[in-house]
Amino acid sequence: MDSTQAELRIAKLRKEINEHNHRYYVLDQPIISDMVYDMMLKELIELESKFPLLISSNSPTKRVGGEVTKDFNSIEHRYPMLSLSNSYNEEEIKEWMDRVTKGLGQDAQVVCELKYDGVAIGIRYVNGELFQAVTRGDGTRGEEITANVRTIRSVPLSLHGNDFPKDFEIRGEIFLPKDHFAALNEAKVEAGEEPYMNPRNTASGSLKLQDSKEVSKRGLDTMLYGVYAESPIAEDHLSSIKKAHSWGFKTPYEQGRYIELCSNEEEIMDFIHHWAEARHELPFEIDGIVIKVNSFHYQEELGYTAKSPRWAIAYKFKAEQVSTVLEKVTYQVGRTGAITPVANLKPVLLAGTMVKRASLHNADQIEKLGLHLGDHVYVEKGGEIIPKVTGVIESMRNANAQAVIFIQNCPECNHPLERKDGEAQHYCVNSAVCPPQIKGAMEHFISRRAMDIEGIGPETIDQLFQVGLLHGIADLYSLKKEELLPLDRMAEKSVYNLLEGIEKSKKIPFQRVLFALGIRHVGETVAKKLAHHFKNIDALLVAEKEVLVNVDEIGEVIAQSVIQFASSPENLQLIDKLKAAGLTLELDSSEEKVLASHALIGKNFVVSGVFSKFSRDELKQTIESHGGKNVGSISKKTDYVIAGENMGPSKLAKAQELGISILNEDEFIALIEREDAILG
Ligand code: IVH
Repeated sequence: MDSTQAELRIAKLRKEINEHNHRYYVLDQPIISDMVYDMMLKELIELESKFPLLISSNSPTKRVGGEVTKDFNSIEHRYPMLSLSNSYNEEEIKEWMDRVTKGLGQDAQVVCELKYDGVAIGIRYVNGELFQAVTRGDGTRGEEITANVRTIRSVPLSLHGNDFPKDFEIRGEIFLPKDHFAALNEAKVEAGEEPYMNPRNTASGSLKLQDSKEVSKRGLDTMLYGVYAESPIAEDHLSSIKKAHSWGFKTPYEQGRYIELCSNEEEIMDFIHHWAEARHELPFEIDGIVIKVNSFHYQEELGYTAKSPRWAIAYKFKAEQVSTVLEKVTYQVGRTGAITPVANLKPVLLAGTMVKRASLHNADQIEKLGLHLGDHVYVEKGGEIIPKVTGVIESMRNANAQAVIFIQNCPECNHPLERKDGEAQHYCVNSAVCPPQIKGAMEHFISRRAMDIEGIGPETIDQLFQVGLLHGIADLYSLKKEELLPLDRMAEKSVYNLLEGIEKSKKIPFQRVLFALGIRHVGETVAKKLAHHFKNIDALLVAEKEVLVNVDEIGEVIAQSVIQFASSPENLQLIDKLKAAGLTLELDSSEEKVLASHALIGKNFVVSGVFSKFSRDELKQTIESHGGKNVGSISKKTDYVIAGENMGPSKLAKAQELGISILNEDEFIALIEREDAILG
């Protein structure tokens, strides 16, 4: 292919990929399978690498990121980014409506929409192409984060149609949907790290990452709510949103009751009351409702105060809050030894659930609240998943109430707690002896993403720990049939499965063993990087800080954590025992290379019927190349059945009876993508 042909082909592919992207991420109406989409993208990537002169910053290949921004440029906003005045009750809305009516000399229609709880963004398009994305900053100047915003799939790179202004800005909110937030936190907890506080902070932190490839993996999304151009693009706000929607932007238009035209106070209140409840069902967080005068002409007439438009107001939902009594404070010891104080409360109903416990975060928080036992405290459920104690009603305190004093020794093993400079959390560092840390370490070790040991779960770990058969990870490899059989719930078959599972784990590749060791800050990705760099455990354990920080993506904190791990005689003993047991402690490069991803690790598949996109063999190979296992017949252990045409009715009935997920080819591909994205 010569460069003229390549240019044509690249233009066609970009157009089609953009179109399918829009269908998938904006309209939620895909018409091609993920596999076909991936093939088109692959072809485009290949063509762009063969013809580098044809690379464009707005090519859909840029969605996966790659550009690294060391310092974000400071950019002056062409139109200042104002904020909204807030209201917290119906009376204030009514007063605002009266002010609007008075200002205009007549009533006006308003538009009610959701107040997305994310990060404000202004995105400029020139000649229909994404040109620049800038954060709100101080409202006058913001930071340019174009490369990061380009990775957000619902932000169009090139616009549809031809009725958009030559140069305009669209504003809206970038947020992290609830399911992506939960998946990110699950991975963090599994890596022994502190979970993120809430989706908004995580979205904001994600947008400031220097490596756009990392941003691309976060799953950020947008909702756009305002077009800024030399001259108005429509008569009113709602029509402008419809227009923006037609150009390919993700807007509230045609998304159920996300946006509504209201003619009176009753309709506004109905919208507010609806979302005060229904917001819990939304895939993203909102913190209120925004009410805007619809007509642009009227907006102009009403004008602005110094900080906000007079033509709009936000109604903020109150964080759901109740008061109850603090009965006692207990302390949880995590797998990594982190101590979390927990408020044990007189049970109280909050946002639809009965709350008995709430987080107190750390010692500083207890001090800040000035907490006393028996205090009446406020408990809130905000963006966070776990309720938290936000305040104390001091006037209701008993005169002789005792102040809560943070413990000095571990509640489980009595070892003195430590707190490093600059860290908020206290830690019990007695990891080799402290029961929840030992059990937590073992639970992590056997888990699906780590050693994936079948036939053993947290209850078995607890049982074997209680009877003294397990004191640490290494003991798993010296368990004997005769010791296990006399125990409760240990029939011949269970013991066989348990020992078989342990035996099989010896084949688990080095990088996963490394992850399974539970070294603080060494999650799956870091473990992979370290394994590939050092090739075996011995080289890693003797590595000095300067060497560690030179490895791609390894910073001071991780390096320090590895060094700390390697400096403990107990840990070195553990490694010796694991070596002696025959675990894989060096890189088997051939095995890792064939694995396309770890998306299906630990999952059993039954393939049945005839398929249109794959041959049965291809399908089975795909399962294995992503770490899954093909099994011959359907049983309780089967996780998924991939069903093609003419799948036998008895198989289908059995799968249904056992409640096993039945997937078609497209759903199977989507499963790989989803799991892979979660694993990062
Ligand atoms: S309109 C002149 N509409 O709320 C300001 N803002 O203080 C026009 N926000 O950070 C803003 N959802 O990013 C508007 N539907 C919505 C919104 C919205 C969230 C944010 C906005 C800003 C804050 C306003």
